[in-house]
Amino acid sequence: MMSTPSIPPFLVWLGVLAAVVLAIKATNTISVYLRPSKLRRYAHTSRDGRPPWVLVTGASDGIGKALSNELADSGFNVVLHGRNRTKLLNVQSELSQAHPARSFRLLVADATQCQPEVFKDIADQLSDLHLTGLVNNVGGGGSGTLFATLDHYTAENTIEIVNMNALFPTLLIGSLLPTLVQNGPALLMSTGSITDAGVPLVSAYSASKGYLKTLAESLTREVKIAGWDIEVLHLRVGVVTGVAGNKSKPSMFMPSAPVFAKAALARVGCGSPVIIPYWGHTLQVAPLDFMPVWLVDMIIEYSLRDIGSVFTNTPATNDEAAKTK
Ligand SMILES: NC(=O)c1ccc[n+]([C@@H]2O[C@H](COP(=O)([O-])OP(=O)(O)OC[C@H]3O[C@@H](n4cnc5c(N)ncnc54)[C@H](OP(=O)(O)O)[C@@H]3O)[C@@H](O)[C@H]2O)c1
Ligand SMILES: *[C@@H]1O[C@H](CO)[C@@H](O)[C@H](O)[C@H]1NC(C)=O
Ligand SMILES: *[C@@H]1O[C@H](CO)[C@@H](O)[C@H](O)[C@H]1NC(C)=O
Repeated sequence: MMSTPSIPPFLVWLGVLAAVVLAIKATNTISVYLRPSKLRRYAHTSRDGRPPWVLVTGASDGIGKALSNELADSGFNVVLHGRNRTKLLNVQSELSQAHPARSFRLLVADATQCQPEVFKDIADQLSDLHLTGLVNNVGGGGSGTLFATLDHYTAENTIEIVNMNALFPTLLIGSLLPTLVQNGPALLMSTGSITDAGVPLVSAYSASKGYLKTLAESLTREVKIAGWDIEVLHLRVGVVTGVAGNKSKPSMFMPSAPVFAKAALARVGCGSPVIIPYWGHTLQVAPLDFMPVWLVDMIIEYSLRDIGSVFTNTPATNDEAAKTK
């Protein structure tokens, strides 16, 4: 009789260990989507009987508008922030009709402007409200060039992007944190992007979203050290349609803003401060975790092949960058 060569026991155990680690990782990922939402915990009346309010930035369109609608549905009154009063008034009347029992208030502020007085003024404007939530959703690529190497962006354009996606939310949190601490339990959400890991041709945007994600991680630990009853939840978002810049038909990997907003708020209380709230986006991103860097780079390059080629061949001057606006 011939004996088959046996596998050394330590390799078997190594295999078992790898399988267990993988199973734990998968269970953790999946459990985020199965836990019941704790959103209503934050929609609580104050001790002196005042109703709960949440501030949503960038609420006049897309994801912010959809989040505002869902938050109103869950018992919050909503401060709708944006830069265009007329557009905000339209959204306010639409939401008031859909939620007659709720109140809505407007906050007009250009998120590309980050002078200290702005944030003092916002805190003053909201000081009469029992604020128990802040959703830092405003963001995007700004009004200038998109999909180009950094030298093609004007300084103004880059300042706009970094201010809107990183500095504005940071200063807003700083100015409203005392209120949230006092009114706790409170919810502090932010809308990031799966491009936060270093995507080319949108470098300032990508890096700003990376900053926002790190900020959420720092604040999660600060909240714990300080003993505050505040939940920090940062959303890593893939492509969402039904927003100002994209009206394509939704698909499995590209949810509409309302579908995305429902998914995001269903994740409140899931126990992780940084999540990809929509399962279709997780399916898109999860395989990248198991790939070598060179393969990830190849996929990124391939997916940007048409978009970027216009802007990557010639070195830019500031004049040329201005022309691409
Ligand atoms: N849609 C996606 O595929 C996607 C993917 C990843 C991450 N995200 C993130 O999701 C968030 C919301 O994006 P969205 O897709 O819903 O975009 P959107 O439909 O364009 O909505 C953006 C909102 O922000 C407001 N806003 C823009 N610039 C502003 C400024 N300078 N000052 C004040 N408000 C300003 C807009 O006001 P107006 O109505 O006046 O323009 C609007 O209310 C952003 O942080 C974005 O980076 C989106
Ligand atoms: C503000 O919003 C209104 C209504 O949506 C729109 O007609 C107008 O063009 C917007 N103004 C600016 C400066 O974008
Ligand atoms: C919306 O986004 C998807 C995915 O990036 C893209 O394929 C589609 O062309 C976009 N639609 C519009 C109208 O920009």
